[in-house]
Amino acid sequence: MEKYPGKKNIAVLISGRGSNLKSLIKYSNKKKSLIKIKLVISNNINAKGLEIAKKSKINNQYIKYSNKKNFENRSLKLLKKNKIDLICLAGFMKILSKTFIKKFSKPILNIHPSLLPKYKGLNTHYKVIKNKEKYSGATVHIVNKELDSGKIIIQEQVKILKSDNVETLEKKVLKIEHKIYPKAIIKLLTNS
Ligand code: GRF
Repeated sequence: MEKYPGKKNIAVLISGRGSNLKSLIKYSNKKKSLIKIKLVISNNINAKGLEIAKKSKINNQYIKYSNKKNFENRSLKLLKKNKIDLICLAGFMKILSKTFIKKFSKPILNIHPSLLPKYKGLNTHYKVIKNKEKYSGATVHIVNKELDSGKIIIQEQVKILKSDNVETLEKKVLKIEHKIYPKAIIKLLTNS
């Protein structure tokens, strides 16, 4: 009998710490979860997330990012081999090409630490604090060919206190990220 009947096969692409990967693993381990994480790919050999995947006995692959085309072609092969239905980008620091998105042809999600469409790109917490924003948050969205611009699946906000700095804001937002990423997957897969 199949061990994960009906579950969707997920690949998580990472570049570093892997705390979102950890939260996705935690969700996937629940009996009623809709997903099985079949593959973790990192472009960074030193990514802590690779260790997390290893500990959870998930197929984890480092693919050298010598150039975009090479990395993407090798990834596509693995994604196909593992019958991946959905890619989750979780702290993946490279921009996927239009060709990759088209060739994969199934949904790709990304998590971004701001209330998109505000603060696309890098150093979001720094910019948010510098601009004295009252709220920040996290967003899970579909990946399209424009950076941090695809359809928003879930967004949740946090209040910024006067006492907050880049580090404390990052912690607060990360907590939200870990909560909303599994929720966004459920929403996407159940069309709810
Ligand atoms: C998160 O803040 C995520 O929103 C952003 O990169 C960070 C990755 O953190 N895209 P982690 O590797 O999941 O801990």
